[in-house]
Amino acid sequence: MEEVKVNLGPKSYNIAITAGLVDQVGPRLRALLSQSETAAVITDSNVGPLYGERLARSLRQAGFQVVTLTFPAGEQSKNLATLTELYTGLAKAGLTRSDVVVALGGGVTGDMAGLAAATFLRGVAFVQVPTSLLAMVDSSVGGKVAVDLPAGKNLVGAFYQPKAVYIDPAVLKTLPVRFFNDGMAEVIKYGCIKDAALFARLEALAPAEMDKALPGIIATCCNIKARIVEADEFDNGDRMVLNFGHTLGHAVEKTYHYAKYSHGEAVGIGMLAFTRAAEAKGQTAPGTAARLANILQQYHLPLTAAVTPAEFLAAVQLDKKKKGHQLTIVLLRQIGESFLQKIAFQEIAAYL
Ligand code: GLY
Repeated sequence: MEEVKVNLGPKSYNIAITAGLVDQVGPRLRALLSQSETAAVITDSNVGPLYGERLARSLRQAGFQVVTLTFPAGEQSKNLATLTELYTGLAKAGLTRSDVVVALGGGVTGDMAGLAAATFLRGVAFVQVPTSLLAMVDSSVGGKVAVDLPAGKNLVGAFYQPKAVYIDPAVLKTLPVRFFNDGMAEVIKYGCIKDAALFARLEALAPAEMDKALPGIIATCCNIKARIVEADEFDNGDRMVLNFGHTLGHAVEKTYHYAKYSHGEAVGIGMLAFTRAAEAKGQTAPGTAARLANILQQYHLPLTAAVTPAEFLAAVQLDKKKKGHQLTIVLLRQIGESFLQKIAFQEIAAYL
């Protein structure tokens, strides 16, 4: 069992990582929340049929009444209409402030269930049971919860920390390989921004060794994220380094209508484009972009996508890292070392 603690004073929590954890959530949650009667499991139409009953059984055995709310899988569900349906389900279930919301699924589920928990009755406890690699290493940790608006992704949300994160790497066996690699882009990102040893480990890892290595890799990523979130919970400074690859990545996703490239694929494209540009300007150590391109190929991630400066500008209009006509971008000094740079909008084209 790997354990990572997120130290946020009274909002501190543990991330537990071990195969088979889906069947052990009940007793762990009971130890954490002795007064809760009802656990509302929020999941989607892909993950619910796979793991919903196992999770519910574990919760029932620990004395919880379980209500399961399932929404149609996909980013297109992450909106105010689905959130309203979730509120209705929680109200029908008679959830009280001493009860708990359990998010079972990928990033869409965790973000939306977290926002429902943050706001229903002005806040009820919630825990994350992430089932995609991307959610395990990124979105389930750190308390960013949100839904999308037609104008852009994650525009309505909150910072609301979970009470615990339960990661069962064995559930990744049912994740389609494209979505596993999607999560690997975020894993590679941690190596780029903070951990050269992790990056080198990923370079050297043979596919046959992946299953055995995964719990340790996930724990390493969660550890990096936990330390970053502890230092800057509300994303005013250093937490922005987690955005490496995301500024252009979001533009790639938006330009291709969230259809052609997954989030991780777009982030990989963004990491490489900015690193190539920064290396050409002498801001990044020579050879960094080549290593990055190699590792993206190793995990079957695309390297480039055409985005014009105008499309990029249109996409960053609602970037939460934008202040006035300046944007904060993340660049690498070398693998394992990142820095923030403020750039004016008219300089953006130089990084494409
Ligand atoms: N996913 C980026 C963050 O949590 O700040």
